[in-house]
Amino acid sequence: MKIILVSGARPNYMKIAPLMWALREYKQKNGSQTQFILVHTGQHYDRQLFGVFFQELDLPEPDYNLGVGSGTHASQTAEVMSRFEPVLEKEEPNLVVVVGDVNSTLACALTAVKRGVSVAHVEAGLRSFDRTMPEEINRIVTDAISDYLFITEPSANENLLREGTLASKIFFVGNVMIDSLLRYRDKARTLPVLDQLGLKLKEYAVMTLHRPSNVDRPEALKGIADALHRLAKEIPIVFPCHPRTAERIRDFGLEVAFNPVLHSGSSRLMNGINTCEPMGYTEFLCLMDHAALVLTDSGGIQEETTILGVPCLTLRENTERPITIQMGTNVLVGLNPDRIVAEGVKALHTPSGPRLQPPLWDGKAANRIVEVLINNVKN
Ligand code: UD1
Repeated sequence: MKIILVSGARPNYMKIAPLMWALREYKQKNGSQTQFILVHTGQHYDRQLFGVFFQELDLPEPDYNLGVGSGTHASQTAEVMSRFEPVLEKEEPNLVVVVGDVNSTLACALTAVKRGVSVAHVEAGLRSFDRTMPEEINRIVTDAISDYLFITEPSANENLLREGTLASKIFFVGNVMIDSLLRYRDKARTLPVLDQLGLKLKEYAVMTLHRPSNVDRPEALKGIADALHRLAKEIPIVFPCHPRTAERIRDFGLEVAFNPVLHSGSSRLMNGINTCEPMGYTEFLCLMDHAALVLTDSGGIQEETTILGVPCLTLRENTERPITIQMGTNVLVGLNPDRIVAEGVKALHTPSGPRLQPPLWDGKAANRIVEVLINNVKN
């Protein structure tokens, strides 16, 4: 059997890596002929959003790097499709595995099904019910055309069945992102990240921000800056800044509000806010694990903080990952600055309750996926 695995953007790598490890392990144990090929579309290409992760997660150099780069949604999606098609033509795989909900996920799934190649979607069925999110469109379309739908939580099963998906295509396997977290957590804890940033254990907050709905609108970004400054009076905040957010901060002239440290050329915490470059996987894991609070608009971070037991405020009106609220540490706070500050202060002063682990978020999701694929995909 020949399998192509696709990675496109930063949140894909920690989902693809466990699949690569599990396939390698399966091959070694069973002496199987299964061949797997790694295709990176190049949607993310910066060292900080790509190179560093491949090294850290023990991922090999991609067999193909399609080098698509940035662009509008249409041009990026179209570019991935037209560059992926010749790879399919040459390799003739039995299966293409896509993960998550980025433009590369949709583009490669669509290219594969149009050529009659089976598609497996890992992290299927999640729904925010907000079609203004580009990721929601990517999720709906990818699920509609995939043959194997691997889900992380029960809500995904309900969503897929409601949309008319055959139950026989759905496999509840757990969460591959958590496979990576559990593998690297101990190593991450030993890193000197706190010393380097002058932070104390559980005495700082971390923020990440990159959703177009939060960073592309000046009023939303200004509101978040306001909340950040008020919260920073309670606790220092570290803000590893995504390149698209950095670009918007410059466009809207908000450098001083968001970026006092870099703006002053100093690397010390000033005004309680430390805006820095995006971090690598284990460094960021260390930073989250030791934090008192995380503020984010990312999807994966809602899941990671649930397992780490760190309170998480999600700066969105909805989440496609409801289990992180039901069983985890996640609270949806939206974009109202007063609410963000109030919930932040509350989280800092409330002792954390008993920690619950969502079912099957146990570090073995990728092994379950490989078993299903080996037993089901036709050679
Ligand atoms: C993408 C995903 C999003 C994911 C995020 C994680 C889609 C629709 N969005 O958003 O779901 O949560 O990745 O990071 O697929 N840029 C760089 N260097 C890079 C890549 C991008 O500077 O290596 C900048 C460019 O200015 C680019 C902008 O980031 O225009 C947006 O990049 P893009 O890949 O389109 O989307 P993200 O916002 O990163």
